[in-house]
Amino acid sequence: MDPRKNPFSPGAGSRPPELAGREQLITDAETALFRVKNGRSTQALFMLGLRGTGKTVLLNEFETLALENGYLTSLVEAPDRKPLCELLYPQIRQVLRKLSHIENVRQAANDGLRALRSFASTFNIKIGDVEIGVDPLPGTADSGDLEFDLRDLFLLVGEASRQAGKGWALLIDEVQYLKKDDLAALITALHKVNQRSLPIFFAGAGLPQLAKLAGDAKSYAERLFDYREIGALGASAAADALRTPLAAEKMQVTDDALARVVLDTKSYPFFLQEWGYQIWNIAQASPIGLAEIEAAGPKAISRLDGGFFRVRLDRLTDAEVKYVQAMAALGRGPYKSNEVAKRLGKEPSGLAPRRASIISKGMIYSPNHGDIDFTVPMFDEFLQRKGNSTQ
Ligand SMILES: Nc1ncnc2c1ncn2[C@@H]1O[C@H](COP(=O)(O)OP(=O)(O)OP(=O)(O)O)[C@@H](O)[C@H]1O
Ligand SMILES: [Mg+2]
Repeated sequence: MDPRKNPFSPGAGSRPPELAGREQLITDAETALFRVKNGRSTQALFMLGLRGTGKTVLLNEFETLALENGYLTSLVEAPDRKPLCELLYPQIRQVLRKLSHIENVRQAANDGLRALRSFASTFNIKIGDVEIGVDPLPGTADSGDLEFDLRDLFLLVGEASRQAGKGWALLIDEVQYLKKDDLAALITALHKVNQRSLPIFFAGAGLPQLAKLAGDAKSYAERLFDYREIGALGASAAADALRTPLAAEKMQVTDDALARVVLDTKSYPFFLQEWGYQIWNIAQASPIGLAEIEAAGPKAISRLDGGFFRVRLDRLTDAEVKYVQAMAALGRGPYKSNEVAKRLGKEPSGLAPRRASIISKGMIYSPNHGDIDFTVPMFDEFLQRKGNSTQ
């Protein structure tokens, strides 16, 4: 069909034509947004899942919902190695400035801006000319301990938002890249805001190891957060993800063809988009049958190999590549770290730093003590294909 009209959207965070199988989560997020804005205590949402399962898409969706529900929003991605104070400073500043334009909130928002000014000098954050003219607020957010200071700031933003009859939705992607102290400070600040019933809604997303990281940073994280696993879709949702966008373009697809796509993609959202994209370009007429799916499969795989999988492998050093190759050579995960070490002819303890480095790059994670698995679905098959082609 006409590639210009291709409805599918393989890509990082790109909204799918049909957001399949996430209805409950979206309803729950709507409920949480309503409750938080109305001063009712609510657990913050934390979405944990492998690569390409739709976490970023959901955060974007929550942002839209938050805006519709009278929130000011900040959606940020925690980059590798950037401190949380630098990440949040411009966001908090923007929210407070917006609030400061509201008549009866000016005082509270300006207090917030002054505290933010203190915060910026305490944490050596570069500020613009406008802020230099703002008087600091001594004694607030300037102790130099992020855990206290971020809490002070959140309380001020929460109070100003409450006075404005608004809320602040803070949405952070890739939370697993935050350093432990930063994560602890974030959790403390959210905890305080929750206790005071202030209208700050938080949703985070990250790789599965995040639940443990948060628990290690603060033991009460488990009670503060509502952890949701974002994984492969159920078979019928996966079929919908394909069928509905095609139907909207007046294209039918046979049941056996759909079943085959569900099987080949293992119902992973990113792969469904990639397959859908190729199927559309290949199809000549409705209904789409098994033959089109069989022709689309190798094209989808080759695009994944050259993009989605490749970019992730490129982030590893040669020694790290050897490690993940040894994992893949063992078949399907999860893998025992001991077995990987045996395969490499090394002691497990000697490999611990290498393993830790690959984990910190977000490539592998430990689902259980002593186990290791890929954060990218079907990465084992990619490495096996790669291995075969270079042999
Ligand atoms: N519920 C869904 N139904 C169909 N397609 C989806 C769904 N959710 C996400 N997708 C598609 O999957 C792809 C990946 O989505 P997204 O980037 O949000 O994943 P992610 O979990 O954030 O991945 P990463 O961990 O790599 O950042 C996108 O192409 C998106 O359109
Ligand atoms: Mg993402």
